[in-house]
Amino acid sequence: MFENIKNYLQEVEQFTSIKSDEIELFRIKYLGKKGILNDLFTQFKEVPNEQKKEYGQQINKLKQAVTEKIESLKETFSGENDKNSDLDLTRPGVPYSLGSRHPIHIIRNKIIDIFKKIGFSVADGPEIEDDWHNFTALNMPEYHPARDMQDTFFIELNPDRVLRTHTSSVQIQYMEQNNPPFRILSPGRVYRNEDISARSHCMFHQIEGLYIDSNVSFADLKHTLQYFTTELFGKSEIRMRPSYFPFTEPSAEVDVYWGLETETDYRITKGTGWLEILGCGMVDPNVLKNVNIDPDKYSGFAFGMGIERIVMLMYQFGDIRMFTENDIRMLQQFSQEI
Ligand code: PHE
Repeated sequence: MFENIKNYLQEVEQFTSIKSDEIELFRIKYLGKKGILNDLFTQFKEVPNEQKKEYGQQINKLKQAVTEKIESLKETFSGENDKNSDLDLTRPGVPYSLGSRHPIHIIRNKIIDIFKKIGFSVADGPEIEDDWHNFTALNMPEYHPARDMQDTFFIELNPDRVLRTHTSSVQIQYMEQNNPPFRILSPGRVYRNEDISARSHCMFHQIEGLYIDSNVSFADLKHTLQYFTTELFGKSEIRMRPSYFPFTEPSAEVDVYWGLETETDYRITKGTGWLEILGCGMVDPNVLKNVNIDPDKYSGFAFGMGIERIVMLMYQFGDIRMFTENDIRMLQQFSQEI
């Protein structure tokens, strides 16, 4: 009887396998309902009393050996499993699909690069503004009629907090915190109370430029803008039309000569060949005073342009709403651009 158990023990010790079905068969053979161990336990009552103790110890030892064996085999088995699975480390990986930049950002970056070459750096300002930075300090006091053209979203009243209507507010933010001379460029989102249509939106982007130094003249402004249109559009013919902004004096709108070569040229320039691209002017001395800069010592120019309009021109977008529709097919067309 004990001989029997010893043989089993030996068998258990010698057993080895890395196959899960073989290990399972081994388990059933010993630990299954009709397995060897159950058999041995049933024979327990037939064992003479004086041998019962040793018999019990022996079958417990066997049981323990079996369980330990299975455990340890399973451990190596799960390690071996990797080697035997279908995992093929030499297969090419699944490529990550790279996103693309939004066309607004592509053009914004191009504009920044152009002005960086002539010493402009980027300055940031908040999209939620107070009345002072968006209107009053820009020479647009309360009840000034120019405020009507820039109705916006009021977040709080008394004191008013609004979504900025133009990036000109960053002129004030920056001048309050820095001493001239400086050349800054300030891109960002702006908001106006406009009906949404193919041509206008209540949220769009502008880039503001500001240059303050001693002896800055209108000629500097014109030449800077001509450099800009040549770099961005490859077109150097510009014209300045007198205009009005409360924070610049004199003020001008700048048109670039686009040409009249194709049918599209006729359509986008309304048959004139000229395209309006930005507003600009010499910074009004009142604005400088508002930020404690001496207008007798310093002068400068500012300009501001809508990015959407330029993107629509350059990439022939017919509808401004496409920029915010999140249509991946639109974005994918720009995957080659950086
Ligand atoms: N802030 C003006 C606008 O939004 C543009 C502008 C900027 C004009 C700077 C002159 C100087 O219409």
